Amino acid sequence: MENSKKVIFSGIQPSGNLTIGNYFGALKNWVKLQDKYDCYFCVVDLHAITVRQEPKDLRRRTLEVLAIYLAAGIDPEKNTIFIQSHVPTHSEAAWLLNCFTYVGELERMTQYKSKSKKYEDGNGSVSAGLLNYPVLMAADILLYNADLVPVGKDQTQHIELTRDIAERFNNAYSPTFTLPEGYIPEGGAKIMDLQDPTKKMSKSSSNPNSYVLIMDSPEVIRRKINRCVTDSVGVVKYTDSQPGVKNLINILGAVTGMSCEDIEAKYEGKGYAEFKNDVAEALIKELSPIQDKVNELLQNKKYLEEIYKKGAEKAYYVSSKILRKMQKKIGFIPVSR
Ligand code: AMP
Ligand code: TRP
Repeated sequence: MENSKKVIFSGIQPSGNLTIGNYFGALKNWVKLQDKYDCYFCVVDLHAITVRQEPKDLRRRTLEVLAIYLAAGIDPEKNTIFIQSHVPTHSEAAWLLNCFTYVGELERMTQYKSKSKKYEDGNGSVSAGLLNYPVLMAADILLYNADLVPVGKDQTQHIELTRDIAERFNNAYSPTFTLPEGYIPEGGAKIMDLQDPTKKMSKSSSNPNSYVLIMDSPEVIRRKINRCVTDSVGVVKYTDSQPGVKNLINILGAVTGMSCEDIEAKYEGKGYAEFKNDVAEALIKELSPIQDKVNELLQNKKYLEEIYKKGAEKAYYVSSKILRKMQKKIGFIPVSR
């Protein structure tokens, strides 16, 4: 029965605290997919170390991301939830796939170009990990023969590369991998930076006022929304010429399910103060129960351990089969273990 369901793989890096962009753009949609698909949701800690991480922060955030997955409603009974570094097949497959990927392809990735520029400006060195990152992502996806990969627009280039690598391998030997497709679920909102609404809200921004974190307290949420950049038009209208207001409408719509038209109508003739206040209160109402649940889960490390252990076992079982296929086709000598 399970095998007839399409497979979904996705992951979030524990490289920063998760924002409402991750929540509305990823997590909230994942929850809706869990009944229809066979889903693998991974905390991609191997990806996070492509830039330097403080060990104790990485440990804390990895568990927190896992707890947020659960608190957001991802059911560990229905899905495979795991931590990437617990499943060694990912690193192994990434090496093999590296040998089917061209340096030129990797250098062409937009994310690599922008991230490497950022680090060049700092202390001069860009890790090979940053360049190879999309190959690890390809391994994540191909090891489960995922059909669909729900991600934001910024990741579509990496998925195209995954398809190219998979096709190259399939052509060199014989059909091995499913060619995955990016999947942007309906209603998947793109949440913009609160200080510069032409940019995507990102957990790696250096200015904390530019994002709301899933774990931000009510006071902090009120302050950040209150101070967010809007415009001097003074009308709540869903238009590209008012990107700050448009973003707040998207946020309010994502929380309440109201359409843009309903929101425009509700705030007709009213100022931004009342609108912002309502956005903040709606966010607080949505996030408070999740925060309580996350805090409760983080108190119960044994329970979290049970979940990530079980997830890793299942992920290892499934991915090993594909890894063994790859090794065999490449010409490695099999050994029974
Ligand atoms: P990242 O934070 O870049 O690791 O992204 C993890 C997931 O959250 C990806 O699927 C992203 O597309 C999604 N995501 C991150 N930031 C946003 C945002 N501002 N709006 C919508 N989705 C986002
Ligand atoms: N690169 C993705 C991001 O930064 C995270 C990620 C890693 C991922 N491996 C993946 C997403 C596999 C989907 C599938 O958002």
